[in-house]
Amino acid sequence: MKFLNILLVLFIVGCLSWPSMQSKLETYIIQVESPESQISTQSMSMDLGSWYNSFLPKSISKHKLESRGAVFDILISQCDERLCCKIISRASERNEEETGFVNAWPERILSLHTTRTQSFLGLKQNIGLWRDPNYGKGVIIGVLDSGIFPDHPSFSDKGMPPPPAKWKGKCELNFTTKCNNKLIGAQIFPKENGSPIDDDGHGTHSAGAFVKGANVYGNANGTAVGVAPLAHLAIYKVCNSLGWSDSGILAAMDVASHDGVDILSLSLGSSSSPFYSDSIALGAYSATQRGILVSCSAGNSGPSESSVANEAPWILTVGASTLDRKIKATVHLGNKKVFEGESAFHSKSFSTKFFPLFDPSLNASESDSSYCGSGTLTDRAVKGKIVLCMIGGSYTRIAKGQAVKDAGGVGMILINRIEDGFTTSADAHVLPAMDVTYEDGMKIIDYMNSTKKHVARITFQGTILRDKNAPVVAGFSSRGPSIASRRILKPDIIGPGVNIPAAWPTSMENNTNSKSTFNIISRTSMSCPHLSGVAALLKSAHPTLSPAAIKSTIMTTAYTVNLANNPILDEMLLPASIFAIGAGHVNPSRANDPGLIYDTPFKDYLPYLCGLNYTNREVGNLLQRKVDCSEVKSIPEAQLNYPSFSITLGENPQTYTRTVTNVGEAKSSYIVEIVSPLGVFVTVKPSTLKFSKMNQKKTYRVTFSKTDNSSTSGVVQGFLKWTSNRHSVRSPIAIVL
Ligand SMILES: *[C@@H]1O[C@H](CO)[C@@H](O)[C@H](O)[C@H]1NC(C)=O
Ligand SMILES: *[C@@H]1O[C@H](CO)[C@@H](O)[C@H](O)[C@H]1NC(C)=O
Ligand SMILES: *[C@@H]1O[C@H](CO)[C@@H](O)[C@H](O)[C@H]1NC(C)=O
Ligand SMILES: *[C@@H]1O[C@H](CO)[C@@H](O)[C@H](O)[C@H]1NC(C)=O
Ligand SMILES: *[C@@H]1O[C@H](CO)[C@@H](O)[C@H](O)[C@H]1NC(C)=O
Ligand SMILES: *[C@@H]1O[C@H](CO)[C@@H](O)[C@H](O)[C@H]1NC(C)=O
Ligand SMILES: *[C@@H]1O[C@H](CO)[C@@H](O)[C@H](O)[C@H]1NC(C)=O
Repeated sequence: MKFLNILLVLFIVGCLSWPSMQSKLETYIIQVESPESQISTQSMSMDLGSWYNSFLPKSISKHKLESRGAVFDILISQCDERLCCKIISRASERNEEETGFVNAWPERILSLHTTRTQSFLGLKQNIGLWRDPNYGKGVIIGVLDSGIFPDHPSFSDKGMPPPPAKWKGKCELNFTTKCNNKLIGAQIFPKENGSPIDDDGHGTHSAGAFVKGANVYGNANGTAVGVAPLAHLAIYKVCNSLGWSDSGILAAMDVASHDGVDILSLSLGSSSSPFYSDSIALGAYSATQRGILVSCSAGNSGPSESSVANEAPWILTVGASTLDRKIKATVHLGNKKVFEGESAFHSKSFSTKFFPLFDPSLNASESDSSYCGSGTLTDRAVKGKIVLCMIGGSYTRIAKGQAVKDAGGVGMILINRIEDGFTTSADAHVLPAMDVTYEDGMKIIDYMNSTKKHVARITFQGTILRDKNAPVVAGFSSRGPSIASRRILKPDIIGPGVNIPAAWPTSMENNTNSKSTFNIISRTSMSCPHLSGVAALLKSAHPTLSPAAIKSTIMTTAYTVNLANNPILDEMLLPASIFAIGAGHVNPSRANDPGLIYDTPFKDYLPYLCGLNYTNREVGNLLQRKVDCSEVKSIPEAQLNYPSFSITLGENPQTYTRTVTNVGEAKSSYIVEIVSPLGVFVTVKPSTLKFSKMNQKKTYRVTFSKTDNSSTSGVVQGFLKWTSNRHSVRSPIAIVL
């Protein structure tokens, strides 16, 4: 295979950045073409080094390039203003004529798709869904996150076979525990940042979603089963508690692709940007070309419109919803009113006495005090009271509890943001505390306002199962439509991402109310590993499936109703928009037998990218070679062979084709069922697809047009479904009128 990645990463340390002239660390991503014609495979890495060096100003080209796969770092510890200016101006020249130079941009710092501090509760993870006879055997999942705490009992390799022969990755652990047959690799990017050990907890938790072993604690009994318990894990630490950067991600994805991973799981991202300057989209493109499925969190910026991250069509974009489990807590007010919320606080010794309430916003000396920011609760009156704290500010839920505890408070009621709706989250607080909805919080404040002798008590009921509304889309789960490519429906899928227990480093016990090795987290950073795990199960059961085919099986078999058989609801308990759930909620057992698949041949992404009206240079950035879109028969975005539809419909009808591949019974016949969105006609030709052999492909045409009398505007939704006597293959349709 051709040598693909041609990313040169420059780390420019301790110099003046230009043009702001402020002293700070700057890293630039500089892409150059692969000098394929000039180098032989044998001496590739050395010759690549000198090729890259030729792009640097003479004064620094003598610096040693450190190779990480096809990505090179240069650490420049001393450079003056002139030198920095030279590098940056060179990087921003974008000279079309200059051979080999593709693009350059200052790297962005990406955000964690979670809050980091929730602490532990071990719970019976009653997701009967994650059962597959293969349990992900023989599959390698690469997790890009904050590293790993390898000593965690979850990562024992009892019963694990050795990694497959194709594995070429490294283990850079320098710790009491080395890698084993479960945890087969651990590396850090960039290297100079230390060891792959998790100093945040998030990475251990993300990886922990794939392993067995959440222990029994408190009320629940049982063993949590990881999503793909027999899959091997390779850890790529790309961030610390401060965040992560483009350059680390690019390097890690590239190395992971060469190491032999089958699935890449990224619970991180930033806001939307065009694919050619989005490091995850870039890295994922190369990985996909190598047959690796890249699964990413959709982001936690919901419920605002167009907040979805990681939107590229070659990525599986995962939103978050609830399980049928609540971890209930109740607050009783002095006026006998009762409000329910959630908490994972765990203590047998907690007094259930009434205490006075305290609202720090009433006597605010600092603007942050209503958020219970660390150090803002200076009023001595906090002592001995239950404190009302608003979600928000730059403080985590656990940190707010810590601030209340430090100030002498005896309990805390966390009040959600209005947009969180009915989504509450159970955190293992350092003191008796619970999370309530905004609406309930306002009623509690009203009560405080109504009497001078306001008191409350908090009680903890623990795990409550079988919430008939489940799955409910979490308020924080990011929403479409996609900005980067409006005519690709995003997110693709939702999965469990609220109150998910998984491994947590014991070294982080300060954060918690017990020395537990499990934590519970509510974010898309937890739903993403669930879907990565399902992808691993599918890959293990069907090793030849392409990344696009795996996506298709997951999407066309998803369910769109909840346990009560009603449409899936959102955080306001209203029917969820198609831009919240995409194809719906993952249904792993059905995904194992989809009947038909929408495969996207990798070569189709080129006409798609040209159809996005990117320049040749921009498309070349993704493909990492020279591209001339005028020589490419470009396609509209909606023509990509995607398992869902997102259409912006004007007066003119629009027609697209889709090609499905038969992976069900050799001889089978499918009939189309169409539920047209309001105000839209959807017609499909032919309306019957007859297959006579396996892997046979059939193409159909679908036409969208406005009905004559349509006065509807905004978003309307429907679906089309191919049904045989054994399978049903559903594609959601989102239409903006
Ligand atoms: C491993 O850790 C030990 C103790 O912290 C240290 O002395 C040693 O240099 C480390 N080795 C590497 C390769 O980082
Ligand atoms: C929890 O499991 C233990 C051991 O299997 C059993 O003895 C106990 O009764 C169980 N508790 C509950 C509440 O199910
Ligand atoms: C507000 O703070 C001041 C100074 O700490 C204190 O004397 C006063 O009692 C507080 N008022 C209320 C309503 O808590
Ligand atoms: C509390 O009561 C005061 C005076 O009646 C009013 O101005 C204020 O808006 C009330 N606050 C809340 C949160 O209801
Ligand atoms: C955690 O606990 C240790 C020992 O008790 C202490 O030294 C350290 O400062 C604590 N860390 C935090 C973040 O509170
Ligand atoms: C690209 O340009 C063509 C021609 O101007 C236009 O019809 C099409 O909508 C554009 N596509 C996108 C994605 O903007
Ligand atoms: C619009 O027309 C379609 C068929 O032409 C009809 O079924 C539908 O009821 C009409 N809707 C309205 C609002 O008149």
